[in-house]
Amino acid sequence: MGHRVAVVGCTGIAGQQLVASLQRHPWFELTGLAASERSAGKTYGEALRDPGTGALRWWLPEDPAPELLEQVVQDAADLDPQAFSCIFTAVESDVARELEPRYARTTPVISTASAFRMAPDVPILVPGVNMEHASLLRVQQARRGWRGFITPIPNCTVTGLVMTLKPVAEAFGLRRVVVTSLQGVSGAGRSPGVIALDIIDNVVPFIPREEEKVEAESKKILGRLDGDTVREAALRLSATCTRVPVLEGHTEAVFVETERGATPEAAARVFREFGRDFVGLGLPSAPGRLLVVVGDPFRPQPRLDRDNEGGMATTVGRIRTDGVFEGGLKYVLVTHNTKMGAGKGAVLVAEYLASRGFIG
Ligand SMILES: NC(=O)c1ccc[n+]([C@@H]2O[C@H](COP(=O)([O-])OP(=O)(O)OC[C@H]3O[C@@H](n4cnc5c(N)ncnc54)[C@H](OP(=O)(O)O)[C@@H]3O)[C@@H](O)[C@H]2O)c1
Repeated sequence: MGHRVAVVGCTGIAGQQLVASLQRHPWFELTGLAASERSAGKTYGEALRDPGTGALRWWLPEDPAPELLEQVVQDAADLDPQAFSCIFTAVESDVARELEPRYARTTPVISTASAFRMAPDVPILVPGVNMEHASLLRVQQARRGWRGFITPIPNCTVTGLVMTLKPVAEAFGLRRVVVTSLQGVSGAGRSPGVIALDIIDNVVPFIPREEEKVEAESKKILGRLDGDTVREAALRLSATCTRVPVLEGHTEAVFVETERGATPEAAARVFREFGRDFVGLGLPSAPGRLLVVVGDPFRPQPRLDRDNEGGMATTVGRIRTDGVFEGGLKYVLVTHNTKMGAGKGAVLVAEYLASRGFIG
């Protein structure tokens, strides 16, 4: 029998990815589904139906398991955390702020929400990038007197960015980063989400609170664990985040000033080699490669590259030197915002924590 786990926010975009990633999982048994009081008491199948049209709002290509559609959704406020070895949360930040500490008193919480990402005793874990920060979870438990903990994954724009910045930082040193994102609409979720009238034939040049998150979270993730805290990376980072009419996949144009200079060939090499130790752990949801490097100058593209390695690899291309920055390097990446950037990425983090005895 695997670890019994629950998904809170199971009807939403990130929650559905969690359900899909957990429904036939070799280690985790999905025994709890929870959402708001709007869904509570309904079967999962009923809760997924649009109350106005009756349409099933399941949006993934893979079907939900029939037995899950019959499972009754609980009110997240009434969920008994002690019934689970681990709880995955996929709710907005204001809701997470209330629910997650209550669950964490007894049970590990893997969160897709931003509510606690910047707390000093909370690590933001990104596969292959900073798993050593997990030891902060013991500090968090001791400080707060919790048997569980809260560990969020980052904002979905940050995941692919730090996966490429980490090998550049290690090989060449990082001084300044400028990034412009072109983010898919699924990243905004359903409530309120992005409406077609606003996004088709358009680019929206602002995503509230996104740029601040990209800047702060990246520096924390790339920071150094120092005793019972993380010292953020001494790095200047500037982000412009935009929404584009792409269903899934965030594209990012990245400009980097390195300390020691980097040829495109050397950068491509360190990208290709990145993450081998993590992948070698053989965790069930891990991809074969964390970074895929493409040479075709017309790639990466979200439609063609977001599903590389099952949506768990970030694809990097257009690697060039940059004449504006000293030791400058520039490249374009595509990363899957709801797979590695949300549901399946959260499950991969949980697998790592289970393999290290943090969940059990
Ligand atoms: N979408 C992405 O690509 C992505 C990527 C990374 C991180 N995230 C983060 O994941 C979280 C969820 O985002 P989303 O895109 O999945 O949003 P969403 O599609 O709008 O889903 C929101 C979910 O929260 C539930 N909910 C709302 N109010 C609640 C309450 N008071 N108590 C319990 N559950 C409640 C909803 O349940 P009902 O159906 O019952 O209302 C629904 O299941 C956010 O923090 C977001 O920033 C999203």
